[in-house]
Amino acid sequence: MSASVLFVCLGNICRSPLAEAALVAEAERIGLDLEVDSAGTGDWHLGYPPDPRSVAVAQRNGVDISHLRARQVRPEDFHVFDQIVALDLQNLANLEAMRPAGAKAELSLLMDHVPGREGQAVADPYYGEDSLFDATWREVTEGAAALARRLKEQHG
Ligand code: 4NP
Repeated sequence: MSASVLFVCLGNICRSPLAEAALVAEAERIGLDLEVDSAGTGDWHLGYPPDPRSVAVAQRNGVDISHLRARQVRPEDFHVFDQIVALDLQNLANLEAMRPAGAKAELSLLMDHVPGREGQAVADPYYGEDSLFDATWREVTEGAAALARRLKEQHG
């Protein structure tokens, strides 16, 4: 049975679309059957494509994310996805607060999956310099690779 993962950041235009793309690529690489999506806790960018700086950094790394569109996380997601993975601690706190009773989704921080980086955030690059997006890409690919390895062990 395939696993399903939802990545959640604030706007769903910078970090979580990159994490989604990185996990899809890594799952394909290691032969893991996965459903992957992303969403934001905020509602400012609903229906919009990812930030041009995220589209550009993904492109530089061989991945096209321009077709993705922002959506807001909803309570049903906790019944649909096995794993809901927050990019930072504020996202995680917001998800914990909205988690419905009886939800199946396991909540974690992306960096919890990287040995030695447990509890750490993927910093919000939105108001930073363009070069921050390269650091974001490196972090989400590291996190996605570690998460993919763990899911491969669990689901084959
Ligand atoms: P993200 O980045 O959460 O990684 O998508 C942000 C995008 C937009 C805003 C903040 C962070 N904003 O304040 O509009």
